[in-house]
Amino acid sequence: MASKQMVHMNQGQGETSYASNSGIQNALQNRLKPLIEAAIVELCSSTNTSFPEKMLIADLGCSSGPNALALVSVAIEAIHSHCLHLQQPPPEVCVLLNDLPDNDFNTVVKSLVMLRQSNKPAVVTVGITPGSFYERLFTSGSMHLFCSSNSLNWLSKVPEDLTRNWIPAYDIDEHARSERLPMVLEAYAQQFRKDFTLFLELRAKELVPGGRMVVSLAGRRSDDRASKFSHVWEVFAQILSVMASEGVIDKAKYDSFYVPVYGPSDEELREIIQAEGSFSITEMRVHHFTRGRDNALITASWYANQMRAAFEPIVVHHFGDVMDEFVRTAERRWSVEGSLQDEVTRYPRAQLVASLTKNSLFKISSDLSLFLG
Ligand SMILES: C[S@@+](CC[C@H](N)C(=O)[O-])C[C@H]1O[C@@H](n2cnc3c(N)ncnc32)[C@H](O)[C@@H]1O
Repeated sequence: MASKQMVHMNQGQGETSYASNSGIQNALQNRLKPLIEAAIVELCSSTNTSFPEKMLIADLGCSSGPNALALVSVAIEAIHSHCLHLQQPPPEVCVLLNDLPDNDFNTVVKSLVMLRQSNKPAVVTVGITPGSFYERLFTSGSMHLFCSSNSLNWLSKVPEDLTRNWIPAYDIDEHARSERLPMVLEAYAQQFRKDFTLFLELRAKELVPGGRMVVSLAGRRSDDRASKFSHVWEVFAQILSVMASEGVIDKAKYDSFYVPVYGPSDEELREIIQAEGSFSITEMRVHHFTRGRDNALITASWYANQMRAAFEPIVVHHFGDVMDEFVRTAERRWSVEGSLQDEVTRYPRAQLVASLTKNSLFKISSDLSLFLG
């Protein structure tokens, strides 16, 4: 079963690293740019405070490679150009990057130092905050903006209802799989609800009043019936199931393999945010996952290597060194022209993007509880 230590991307800068195989995620990050820019402008012109003298921003689940600094760089650029536009001296900016302790922070630290040394006068301090975003990471009321992309799909743990009852996440047998799938997906949905609710509560404590959060994660459109009964990691599971049927990996081990990843629908996400109550949804967008990408660039080996970079640590931890075989199986599966595109179309994914503002009610309710004794 995946432990917290296994939830990290492939380290380093080599051929199979996340740094070299995160093109899809980078394209998804680019779609956050206008929302981050708008959040910065609003933070700078918030009516109940004067122009901020300092601003603390953090990326949660930054990983390594070029994507680690992509979102905070957008925020810094936005602060810089907004201040130029207003002819206002820039606030002192502190940039913090978070991921789990086993993330490859080595190259990230070097890029952070380069960011501080770059001629952006606003960036005064930079730092790493290792730890789970399902725990407290920052001091109360200290942060102005949180960004996060492609990370909140990772759950704090695999749903215990499944592991306790030995229920495979993705049965090889098609009949058993379709019978159990609604129950399996419900267990994942419940775990996501718990985790995401906790995430919102924690971040609300750490943000200043009116603080902002721009997050993006893989999921599905609420109105898309086709993807309702499939895992967000369906294609990945199918390749492993072929390997198990061919005896490349042990069938019993396959049945006890769980990926702690869930892709909610936009409706689920909205509902959890509203029920938790600390944030208002300033904007929510649902994008097609791969639309806008050149199909000719989505080749079998490119796609297999993107999956490898993200899932290798948990696969190797559970099955041993089987990733070369994983890539070969994937390439064989998509050797017929158009078959990969067909598969990607059959399991359409959405990118859910939300720009949130911390409610001032959050403050009022705590004041009220003080007042009421
Ligand atoms: C797919 S990568 C995304 C990286 C980067 N944000 C991007 O868009 O390319 C997901 C990252 O989330 C991190 N992650 C997963 N669970 C986490 C948690 N509970 N706390 C902090 N980081 C977590 C993983 O270690 C991984 O680096």
